[in-house]
Amino acid sequence: MTDVNARGEAVDTGRDVSVANTDGRRQIRYALVTGASGDLGRAVVRRLVAEGARVVAHCHRGDLGGDVGVERLVRADLVAPGGADELLDALPADWPGLDLLVNCVGGARPRPFAELRDDEWDACLAVNVTAPFRVIRAAVAPLSRVGGAVVNLSSVAALTGGAFGPHYAAAKAALIGLTRSAARELGRAGIRVNVVAPGPVESRMTASLTDAQLTALLDATALGRVVQPEEVADTVVWLASASAVTGQTVVVDGGRCFV
Ligand SMILES: NC(=O)c1ccc[n+]([C@@H]2O[C@H](COP(=O)([O-])OP(=O)(O)OC[C@H]3O[C@@H](n4cnc5c(N)ncnc54)[C@H](OP(=O)(O)O)[C@@H]3O)[C@@H](O)[C@H]2O)c1
Repeated sequence: MTDVNARGEAVDTGRDVSVANTDGRRQIRYALVTGASGDLGRAVVRRLVAEGARVVAHCHRGDLGGDVGVERLVRADLVAPGGADELLDALPADWPGLDLLVNCVGGARPRPFAELRDDEWDACLAVNVTAPFRVIRAAVAPLSRVGGAVVNLSSVAALTGGAFGPHYAAAKAALIGLTRSAARELGRAGIRVNVVAPGPVESRMTASLTDAQLTALLDATALGRVVQPEEVADTVVWLASASAVTGQTVVVDGGRCFV
């Protein structure tokens, strides 16, 4: 692959980053999605499969909700030491590298500040920050072989605070810091790292809201509706193929939080 450096000179990067769709976007051929059993993870997997990507989906205890055409489903506890390395070891041997890693692994139980226990705080940081960190670290080699991208799933709670509590907001803010740092360090290896920060998405979470909570939510939303998982998946795929975008946080919340 020949690229152009900052002085406009042709350089051989040694990487295979030449594959593009007819509209010029990077084609995603080989993708790994962690946390694929959640509503957002499932939507991302479906979208990638529909785009023609070969997908390895990761779940912990859940599943994909049916046969969605993934190449492999891998179960791993990504909080346990070694879990991330086991996951990356399970990529098919004939993949030349990884075009896209999407980290949907995460989540939290809602807890008010004063009631939040130390073990709940630690568990939230572990699943929302430590797990994505370890997966990215384990994926650097296959990502750099093809000039791949990482998209991490944070939350608007990182920017605004939120009803889930301080543990979730702090963890998702840390994930944004991790993303920016990874983008700086890994850019020269041809790896882009970005964040999508959804607001409440139509999912198990919004299904549990009372009518009053839902009305308050929609009143504060410019579009006046809840975001669909497929709209988050669209943004993930767009970011993955936006070849000059790295270190960025893209809010997908229907217009509640303007940054
Ligand atoms: N839904 C929303 O409205 C919303 C809004 C903003 C941000 N987000 C964020 O977007 C991401 C996806 O959301 P979602 O609603 O699809 O999430 P979700 O339903 O809570 O799913 C979370 C995923 O993380 C996995 N996971 C949990 N603990 C794990 C562990 N120890 N090791 C490995 N995997 C583990 C779960 O696996 P199993 O189920 O297989 O055990 C599941 O696949 C999350 O990071 C969430 O915080 C969601």
